[in-house]
Parts: sequence; C-alpha cells; structure tokens
Amino acid sequence: MSSNSFQLAVMPGDGIGQEVMEAAVAVLDAVEARHDFSFSKSYVSGGSRQYKETGVAMTEDAFEAAEKADAILFGAMGLPDIRHPDGTEPAPQLDLRFRMGLYAGLRPIRAIPGVPLALASPRAREIDFALVRESTEGLFASRGKGTVEDDTVAKDTMVITRGVTERVSRFSFDLAKRRSERRNRKGVVTLVDKSNAFLSFAFMRKVFFEVAGRQADVEARQHSIDAMALDLIRKPWEFDVLLTENMFGDILSDLGAGLVGGMGFAPSADIGDEHALFQPCHGSAPDIAGKGIANPVAMILSAAMMLDWLAVRHGSSRLSEAAEEIETAIDAAFGAGAVKSFDIGGQDGTSAIARAVIEKIKNP
Ligand code: NAI
Ligand code: MG
Repeated sequence: MSSNSFQLAVMPGDGIGQEVMEAAVAVLDAVEARHDFSFSKSYVSGGSRQYKETGVAMTEDAFEAAEKADAILFGAMGLPDIRHPDGTEPAPQLDLRFRMGLYAGLRPIRAIPGVPLALASPRAREIDFALVRESTEGLFASRGKGTVEDDTVAKDTMVITRGVTERVSRFSFDLAKRRSERRNRKGVVTLVDKSNAFLSFAFMRKVFFEVAGRQADVEARQHSIDAMALDLIRKPWEFDVLLTENMFGDILSDLGAGLVGGMGFAPSADIGDEHALFQPCHGSAPDIAGKGIANPVAMILSAAMMLDWLAVRHGSSRLSEAAEEIETAIDAAFGAGAVKSFDIGGQDGTSAIARAVIEKIKNP
C-alpha cells in the first residue's frame, strides 16, 4: 500500500454507535474526496448484541483485524440489559485498551461556537483543555480481579507502574508542546492526583516530576482531584493539559463533556505506542437509539482526531489539514445556527448534522 493509503478497522458496535458511525464515515468520505489520501475500511462486528446472539462480544479475528489496521474507528459497545453472569457488562472497548496497550486516553474539551455552555461566565467560551486519562492501569487494573470475601468485604486494588507513568507523562508533555505551537502560548501539564493520601499517587507524582525535569518548554504542575472537581467548575478556561489516573479520568472526562454541551460533543482517542482507537466518550445510548436523533459530533470529531494522529505518525500535513477542515466545518455549522442537535434542544437529527458538516467542508 502506498503511504497515502490507510487501512481502517471500523467497529460501529451497539445502539447509536451504528448511527453516529454512518455519519462520521460520510464526513470522512467528504474530506477524502478533496485530498490525495485514501482509506480502505473493513467493518468489524462486535458488542453486546453479538454477545447475546453468539456468546462472544468480540472474536479473536476481530481483535486481530484491529491490531492489523492503521487505525481503529469505534462507535460504542454495551447494552445495560445484557450482562455476564457476574453482573458486569461485556466491554470490548476496555479489553482493546488493555490488549493493545492504549495507555493514553485523550479527551479534548473545547467550547464549540453556537453550542450552549453549562457555565454562566462569558469566559466559558474560552474552554479548551485536553484530558489525558491513563487507560491501562490505575484502579481499572483490578477489573475482573476484584474479590468479595464471605459476602462481607469487597476489594479492588489500584496499580501504578513506573513504565506506564513515564510513557503517559511523556505523551502529555508532547501533546502540550504541540498545542502550544498552535495556540502560541506556553504549554502546561497538570497532574491530577490524590498524592496527599495514597502511596500509589505519591509514586505517580514522583515519576511525573522526574519526566517533567527533562522538559524545557512545558510547565509541570500538580492539583488534587477534589480541588480539580471544584476548579473545573470555577475556572476551567485556565487549564491546558490534565493528566490523570484511569478512574479519576473516567469521572473528570464526563464532567468536562458536561461543560461543553454534553456527551454528544465529547470526542476521544485511546493511543498507544503502536496502535490507536478513536471513539466518542459516550456509550450506546439505548434510550435514543433507532430514532435518528443521536448527535454525531463526538464521533465526527473523533474521526478528525484519527486524521491528526495519522498525520503526526506518517508526517503528512494533508491529513492534519483535513482534520482541521472537519473541526472548522463543525464550528461553522453550529456557530452559524445552520444546525442544532436534539441534545441541545434543536430539531436536527444525525444525518441532518452530517449533511450540514459535509456542506461546510465542500463550501468553507
Ligand atoms: P451513554 O453515554 O450511552 O448515555 C448517557 C446519556 O447521554 C443518555 O441519556 C443518552 O441518550 C445521552 N447521549 C449519549 N450520547 C449521545 C449522543 N451522541 N447524542 C445525544 N445524546 C447522547 O451512557 P449509558 O446510558 O450509561 O450507557 C449505555 C450503554 O453504553 C451501557 O451499556 C454502557 O456500558 C455502554 N457504554 C459504552 C461506552 C463505550 O463503548 N466506550 C462508553 C460508555 C458507556
Ligand atoms: Mg466513561
């Protein structure tokens, strides 16, 4: 395959995953038509509906297809009524992170023009930070390994390792450097932890500042998780890159999404050294699935993040231009009031939003 051609594994999954994926693929097709790169897509099935029908949420073949691809586009998997006998849900999206070493969960939180914000302060329009959620260890290291003893004591153990902390710290500093070049200001990475109370977090903090010491042009800070819950409401516009343990990142990324219009506007990427998966922060939303009203922006922005990641990895400025075209088109469509999605009180469904974004890509 030529260097302009990329193999994508496309996993729509359950519920609205299918619907928002269709929208994102249509938008990708539109940027592909304007540039000299191309994607060949292989659709890979998986999820809770498949688990119910076959007993397997994601087959070995599907995992292998994901590993072979240049990038993975993922919708959402999971349905609350379909569970393992122990009460947990099948979660191939978590298995993929662990199997493929996707340690950096990147969740940009940015105020999109025209989208109503939760905070009254006019400065809320300046919200533009990126959360990096460590995604392979922390409290989630215990997933599937917790114990309940005699129906009286339940235990899950948190794990922080030097290797992963170093890598996810370096990832965060590199990200801050790239962001600072685009925004013309010094980058700042803030580690969010509970190092005043727990040895594991004190260790994470120590390793983070060791890595920080080797970074000349990015500032390193530390913030406690409880204080961060306060400050993300009080002054979220002051933050640049936030690095967190897995569980804290899980919680803060939903809070972040809430600041900028809700789950329908929150994209994400799960990035490792060799592989990366791009998916909206939201789940399968069974309450609105099948109605055509899901907001596809989070999925479309996740596809733009994929273009940006491929751009850096393959040194292609065309791919990063295409990523920017998508972001600009979304800002233009919502900012001009050309569309308003149902989740913010509008009447535009999934395909209407995709069409409006494609229209802005074609006629910027
Ligand atoms: P959810 O994110 O699916 O839905 C939460 C709320 O946000 C619902 O009211 C839903 O209608 C709304 N919402 C979500 N995405 C939206 C969109 N694009 N446009 C408009 N409204 C949207 O979370 P929930 O209900 O907790 O989980 C549903 C299922 O999804 C569960 O089985 C869960 O395990 C799974 N899940 C999967 C994830 C993944 O695949 N990465 C992530 C989160 C949940
Ligand atoms: Mg979550």
